[in-house]
Amino acid sequence: MNANIKKLAMEFTNDMIGWRRHIHAHPELSGKEKDTQKLIINVLRTLGIEYKENVYGYAVIGTIYGGHDGPNIAVRADMDALPILETTGLPFASEQTGVMHACGHDSHVAILLGVASILQSVRDELYGTVTLVFQPAEEEALIAGAKGIMESGVLDTVDEIFGLHVWPQIPVGKIGLKAGHFMAASDRFNVDIVGKATHGAEPHNGIDAIVAAANWITSVESIIARETNPMDQVVCTIGVFQAGERYNVGAGLAHLEGTCRTYDPNKRDYMEARLTESLKALDTMFGTNSTIEYKRGHGATINTHSSVEHAASVVADYLGEDAVQMMEHPSMAAEDFSAYLQHIPGTFIWLGTGFEGNPPLHNSGFTIDESILTSGATMIAAIVWERLSSVTTKK
Ligand code: NI
Repeated sequence: MNANIKKLAMEFTNDMIGWRRHIHAHPELSGKEKDTQKLIINVLRTLGIEYKENVYGYAVIGTIYGGHDGPNIAVRADMDALPILETTGLPFASEQTGVMHACGHDSHVAILLGVASILQSVRDELYGTVTLVFQPAEEEALIAGAKGIMESGVLDTVDEIFGLHVWPQIPVGKIGLKAGHFMAASDRFNVDIVGKATHGAEPHNGIDAIVAAANWITSVESIIARETNPMDQVVCTIGVFQAGERYNVGAGLAHLEGTCRTYDPNKRDYMEARLTESLKALDTMFGTNSTIEYKRGHGATINTHSSVEHAASVVADYLGEDAVQMMEHPSMAAEDFSAYLQHIPGTFIWLGTGFEGNPPLHNSGFTIDESILTSGATMIAAIVWERLSSVTTKK
């Protein structure tokens, strides 16, 4: 263990709190992270770290060159906020009405700036290169920040990548780790079921879109309950059902929206195919005319075993054995870090921020215990340090 890393993390704690609070007060939506980018660039400049900007959207890619040759280790933080009206009442609450860092990406940026500060201080001792990835647009699958950065080619020489997310289901002070399946693939669908409106007293003269849609919803439930293996980790939720104009009119149109979460790419294809087929069957049965628009979102986040083992031993050494929480189950939530892990070995890590009464992610009252900025930066800086502190052969 390098005690200097822990000491440096303590020294940069006030900076990290300041950055986190500033970013929290000035949140920006996906694809609009202009001022957040400005803050990141200012810090990197002050630290004397080389950077590239706008490789994709408002991304910033910083590079710390070690004093010796060796592998290239990347660390990523996402930058964007959500369209949520903040209710925390914090003195540094959002100054942008209706926009909030409710997913903790403010902390992710502050921690990565802390990691940059720590590793830049010890750069002469490093055998290799550190790539700092400040990524826009994690929350918006259609802009897809991680995919855009991968396609820019700027990470082509990276050997291993790490990233973290604050995680309220895990207590403050614990680090959630798991090899293999970690976070699910996330797809989204819109369905229109077109029937024929009619007088409520004469249903036989129309085609009731509400009754048809209700049948389709139970078919979707049956696909999950009766066609998929419970061990296969498949979830389908219909979150929107809009239909009807008036109590005594048979509805002519039903509109539904939902999401499918999977791990196995074959199950992903299966769900898309079965939702489509079941709508065709519905049309045959009811005489409706249905359409589905199925959009693929983030892929599954699958952690590399050797990177998880490395992270676990670093957490035990630097934060204590008790801090390691090996997760029994993966999450069905999604994360675009998956786009990096499809090409580069590495792991995504959950940084516990659960404390009594703390609301979940994406809640208007969500906040963090700021002590995790220090432990998060210690962990990530140590993960990189322990990879680059001696001569290793490039993978
Ligand atoms: Ni998030």
